[in-house]
Amino acid sequence: MILVTGATGTVGSEAVRLLAAQHHPTRALVRDPSRVPHSAAGSGMEIVTGDFDRPDTLDAAMRDIDTVLLISPAVPAQEIAVIDSAARQGAKHIVKITNHKASADSPVGRRRGHARVEAHLKSTGLGYTLLAPNLYLQNLLTFAPSIKQTRGFTMSAGDGQAGMVDARDVAAVAAAIAATATDHAGRTYLVTGPELITYTDVAKELGDALGHAVEYRRISPDEHRQAMIRAGLPETVAASNAQVFGLIAEGDAAWLSSDVASITGASPRSLRTFIADHLTAFA
Ligand SMILES: NC(=O)c1ccc[n+]([C@@H]2O[C@H](COP(=O)([O-])OP(=O)(O)OC[C@H]3O[C@@H](n4cnc5c(N)ncnc54)[C@H](OP(=O)(O)O)[C@@H]3O)[C@@H](O)[C@H]2O)c1
Repeated sequence: MILVTGATGTVGSEAVRLLAAQHHPTRALVRDPSRVPHSAAGSGMEIVTGDFDRPDTLDAAMRDIDTVLLISPAVPAQEIAVIDSAARQGAKHIVKITNHKASADSPVGRRRGHARVEAHLKSTGLGYTLLAPNLYLQNLLTFAPSIKQTRGFTMSAGDGQAGMVDARDVAAVAAAIAATATDHAGRTYLVTGPELITYTDVAKELGDALGHAVEYRRISPDEHRQAMIRAGLPETVAASNAQVFGLIAEGDAAWLSSDVASITGASPRSLRTFIADHLTAFA
């Protein structure tokens, strides 16, 4: 049986939908049972309530689990708690979402965090598979209110290219690997869309789809950090986001792979498809 954590989130809810549709024995871990994804409710899928900060609830959720699809907000202590519970309860394999540039000496804190979790996972002796996605196209949905109100969005990634990927494709890769985990033991997959995209491309594609110009308003990472703090983000999160946007401007996310097609048998969704599928959010 597969345990999917983060089952109410962007990737987890789609992974749960796919695993339910394919009739794989699956249990969805949620921390609030009133937020069970529609695809899981009524599918016969098991639902379990659990919290990454409460190991007792994780141990209960792990019973009879072979493979864990570990999706979380990527707080290292929480992911380590899930891995330790899996090891205690006899699970065999963890599929973890990580970062392509995770390393112990990364200048980016969240990448050092992923590296710490990876090292811990490898030390347990559990089977593992790492999925390293590029930026999610779903991040563009944060621009929707601004595009509706001002026909533009603000960003600090300059002309940096990114192999942005639809989170639905991340979920499809994750579900396919979780269903055949032993075939993917010890492997790392890079999960990207089909093309390198800049925020200028995003503005143009949105404009074409909406039938009016959409302006990409460029600001510096430091201006962006201050704007995010004014908008209510914690200072550490704003600083980390701005740091990553600055790196993207320098080409840090300009990488592609063919792993989505080789794992799922289908081409990854393009920016144009993502916009068409979410047009009402921007209109
Ligand atoms: N965004 C990107 O561009 C990007 C790119 C590459 C990799 N990633 C990685 O993708 C992962 C995030 O995936 P996502 O977008 O699907 O995340 P998400 O939508 O933010 O979902 C996070 C999930 O974790 C659950 N959760 C949070 N705290 C919990 C707790 N204490 N106990 C149990 N569950 C808890 C949430 O439940 P609630 O619904 O109850 O809050 C939710 O289901 C991260 O590892 C991130 O590093 C993101």
